[in-house]
Amino acid sequence: MPSQKAYYITTPIYYVNAKPHLGHTYTTIACDSMARHNRFLGKDVFFLTGTDEHGDKIVKAAAKEGKEPDMYTTRISALFRAAWEELHISHNHFIRTTDANHKKNVQNILQKIYEKGDIYLSEYEGKYCTGCERYLTDKELTEDGLCPDHRIAPEIIKEKNYFFRMQKYLTGWLDTLKKNPDIIRPERYYKEAVATAEELLQMGEDLSISRPKSRLTWGIELPFDTEYVTYVWFDALLNYVSGVDYPDGENYAKFWPVAHHMIAKDILKPHGIYWPTMLLAADIPVYRKLVVHGYWLGWGDMKMSKSLDNALDPHTLLEKIGEDNLRYFLMREMVFGNDSRFTEEALQLRINTDLSNDLGNLAQRTLSMVKKYQNGSLQTSGEHHPVESTFREISQLAGKNFLELMESYAVSRALEEIFKISRAANSAIEEYKPWEMAKRSEPNLGVFLSSLIKGIIFLMLYLRPFLPNKTTVFLQMLHVDPHAPYPSSLDDIILPDRIPESWEILFPRLELE
Ligand code: ME8
Repeated sequence: MPSQKAYYITTPIYYVNAKPHLGHTYTTIACDSMARHNRFLGKDVFFLTGTDEHGDKIVKAAAKEGKEPDMYTTRISALFRAAWEELHISHNHFIRTTDANHKKNVQNILQKIYEKGDIYLSEYEGKYCTGCERYLTDKELTEDGLCPDHRIAPEIIKEKNYFFRMQKYLTGWLDTLKKNPDIIRPERYYKEAVATAEELLQMGEDLSISRPKSRLTWGIELPFDTEYVTYVWFDALLNYVSGVDYPDGENYAKFWPVAHHMIAKDILKPHGIYWPTMLLAADIPVYRKLVVHGYWLGWGDMKMSKSLDNALDPHTLLEKIGEDNLRYFLMREMVFGNDSRFTEEALQLRINTDLSNDLGNLAQRTLSMVKKYQNGSLQTSGEHHPVESTFREISQLAGKNFLELMESYAVSRALEEIFKISRAANSAIEEYKPWEMAKRSEPNLGVFLSSLIKGIIFLMLYLRPFLPNKTTVFLQMLHVDPHAPYPSSLDDIILPDRIPESWEILFPRLELE
């Protein structure tokens, strides 16, 4: 039985043909938020990211810089690593497909599948997109015959190659998909994967998994034919098992049964079809879940990408708006699964409305009132106020809904749900007007204000996966352990006797030029 207490999350391994951009940053932060969230649930988490370093387009990118592929890939891979360090991404391991143990794994698995008779040599002609590093079917092309993501015409390639008998495993995989619709989420991508599997079954084609060395040398050599290197996807996808020390590492035994892959829709076919059939052929259990998000769009409403030169640099953004603002905007603005347009107006509106106004102002106002009306002391006993029970119910429900939504990767909706607490607190302030309660010296003002503070602490505890820095500052200021598990009720929160004399403004307004 796989442990309910373990969780394994992976990002795609990114191509090193260019430095990281906002699209890569989104997936990495989303996985990081899920990793942090699962750690707060008390699970043992393994979070893997890394770089995909073989193949045609890497060789071309290296040549453009006048570099050998190995020097070039080391340099760009280090840029990804540095970007994730700058963002304090909490991955447990960073894998490179040029790592020796990964190469050995790829060769061992290829050999195993070859010995089963599921790899054979044949001739094939097809339309190959180097950007996607795969053959595209006519149906996948635009009306003008271009690759929809890279806007270039695919190359016609005819050559002798090794093929993986994907057809042999496709029916089994389709059956599994039909019995487990939750395995690919959100639903539209599940449906797309089912349709693609049905279409491939009808076409009857297998998967070309090699490149002759005469055309490409920068790859892992096939163990059974030294004239060929392996196809990038056969190499890249296996990173997910190499990263947890397949075949006999402790991490493999513990984490592979609970593998969750996150990708964008561009690589649904390799992950939703090629990968599970490869796993079945290699006698490795299929992943637990594949979660798929949409695209950040740049100018022209096209997928943000290096090749279209419309991608944003995460480093520039980070310097401009700060880590927590960047994380929050990306996670809250994009409805998981849909495309989203990145604009400075949307960024400013989101940060100022949610963080500065709803949450920051609430914290600021409430702390100021505790200081002014209660002399800084937090009173939990005393005359009852109706807000106590209202807040208890609202936060309990918001917390429960948050956890359910996070379980299904509906990240933006989970954030929307938990913010109901700040909305309720702001409405309570408007309704009960604590400044008037103070004038009338009402005896339950202390309990009213303490309930607000408890609600804010509850909310901050749930926001930790997304705003790791600001929430820590706030929680430590009120002597709450920032590593504590999620509270299930306001009663789980223990208030300190007093608030500090002064505090910093947590969420200043964002004023972009
Ligand atoms: O495909 N919006 O690498 P890659 C959202 N090496 N996410 C985006 C994005 C955008 N505009 N652009 C990129 C590869 N991404 C292969 C993967 S895995 C075994 C091998 C993110 O560098 C998103 O996660 O092209 C997408 O799936 C991934 O980067 C593609 O990265």
